[in-house]
Amino acid sequence: MVREIVVYPDKRLKLISKEVSTFDGGLHDLLDDMYDTMRARNGVGLAAIQIGVDVRALIINVPLSDASGESYGEEHSADDQPRENTLEMINPTIVEADGTEKFQEGCLSIPGVYEDVERAKHVKVEYFDRHGEKQTIEDDDFLAVAIQHEMDHLEGKVFIEKLSFLKRKKFEKEWARKIKEGRL
Ligand code: CO
Repeated sequence: MVREIVVYPDKRLKLISKEVSTFDGGLHDLLDDMYDTMRARNGVGLAAIQIGVDVRALIINVPLSDASGESYGEEHSADDQPRENTLEMINPTIVEADGTEKFQEGCLSIPGVYEDVERAKHVKVEYFDRHGEKQTIEDDDFLAVAIQHEMDHLEGKVFIEKLSFLKRKKFEKEWARKIKEGRL
């Protein structure tokens, strides 16, 4: 089921999400709704808080045509993001992070805004899948960016907080105007 996306500056985006302790049907329904919602908006990743649920769950679906893409968060067509390619991460923890890389990012909670953000180039992450099985994943490309972006949501952070003071100021001004003019 497609759910409503929480849009910046909604205060819920500042919540620190809680650990998942039961890997039950409720969690599976949440993950399925997250996929439907992400797809409906042509997104590539989504954290549970973006549909208003403050638990440590996120999904990422790297489009097949864009595995080495230049922008994270750009819109994608339906057929290159099959459901079975969805990475579902519950209670993720970064266990290794090194290097730095700049990548252009976007976010379904801040639609239409794309900015360069610097993050670790390589990350190794431990997490649980929807069945509560512990998994490890490692990446030094698009997926590494996606994981770090979505994990920030679990800590109540959005990518524009990483912008320089001046860029952030410019963004806030433009965003306020967008809201005022009802262009969201
Ligand atoms: Co986001």
